[in-house]
Amino acid sequence: MSPIHSDRFDRYVSVLPALKDDNRLRGLKPRAGVDFTSNDYLALASAPRMKEAVAAALEAGTPIGAGGSRLLRGNCEEHERLEAEAARVFGAETALFFGGGYVANFAILTTLPQRGDLLVLDSLVHASIHEGARAGRAEFHTCAHNDPEAVEDTIRNWREKGGTGRAWIVVESLHSMDGDFAPLEDLIAVANRYDAFLMVDEAHATGVYGERGRGLTAPYEGRDNLLVVHTCGKALGAAGALVTPSGVLRDFTVNRCRPFIFATAPSPLMAVAVRQALLILQEEPERQQRLAKLVAFTHREIGLRGLRSSSGSQIVPYIVGDNARATRLASALQGRGFDIRGIRPPTVPEGAARLRISLTLKVGEEEVHAMLDALTEETRGWCQ
Ligand SMILES: Cc1ncc(COP(=O)(O)O)c(C=O)c1O
Repeated sequence: MSPIHSDRFDRYVSVLPALKDDNRLRGLKPRAGVDFTSNDYLALASAPRMKEAVAAALEAGTPIGAGGSRLLRGNCEEHERLEAEAARVFGAETALFFGGGYVANFAILTTLPQRGDLLVLDSLVHASIHEGARAGRAEFHTCAHNDPEAVEDTIRNWREKGGTGRAWIVVESLHSMDGDFAPLEDLIAVANRYDAFLMVDEAHATGVYGERGRGLTAPYEGRDNLLVVHTCGKALGAAGALVTPSGVLRDFTVNRCRPFIFATAPSPLMAVAVRQALLILQEEPERQQRLAKLVAFTHREIGLRGLRSSSGSQIVPYIVGDNARATRLASALQGRGFDIRGIRPPTVPEGAARLRISLTLKVGEEEVHAMLDALTEETRGWCQ
């Protein structure tokens, strides 16, 4: 037994009261209430077709675990079938399956950009992109959110100061917390002008936008300076991430990417589930259409109530500002049966605490109506 008066944990314990004082202490809560929080946008996580595909694979002898790295015994036919299907669906030269979006972003950014290169990140990109940039070899800069001119200025300045490597622009196509869209056309033009790569994290757009859910990059897929990350744990209802590099970048990744090489491959059952999700996207476009209708309905209702939300997507931020107020508002809505969470810094910038309302096919118009009524009542008297 450890001595009772050990100071072993002091440096951890002292952090927690400070977080609590700042209304930023987090804890894990069980699921409860109508789901306005998850990213299961197309309700595929519990779709019968997904369950049946996994059950059939199990029955046919697919192992639960891959049993090793993809480079060793862990390369299963389920991974290869998924990657072939993904390349076909997304119109890409190749696809490579990772265990999750976080690891995929980290893995790519610590593998492909080289010493002497420049990474230009949208300032609001996901933590995994910041971490990958920090841990990688290239110099990196952040630019104002969704500002192609700032991206261009950064690359131009770097070149003028003697930067000779390759520039990499990294953005989210649909921002995870603001729910707004990246100006992809302009960013592609900048990438082309500077012979740069454009890496697009489609985490929240895959399945929801683009023809049959192929994402917002669908019109540009197949270009050799475009690298897309389609995460599979959100609209695809499963887990993992599909990266779509050109053939040479895929081969380089397989040979040099440490998180790919030195890790057990994702479960082959997950590969089966993701492949099934891709098939569903192609065969049941009505899911995407129903969600688009619900999104339009919700934004119309928000406008009618005079509530303010800046997005036009299935991610509806309700900016509150103050951490404590965001937490209180979320708790009040939870108390009324709606699972809506307060999002606080560092997930969002200081002073921009908010509710992140997520629209999925797990709810219908009536539930949206009731949720917005509750939000209107709880915020009555607040300045908008
Ligand atoms: C924009 C974005 N990229 C990447 C990720 C990480 O993906 P995953 O949850 O599959 O690890 C997330 C998850 O929240 C995200 O929002």
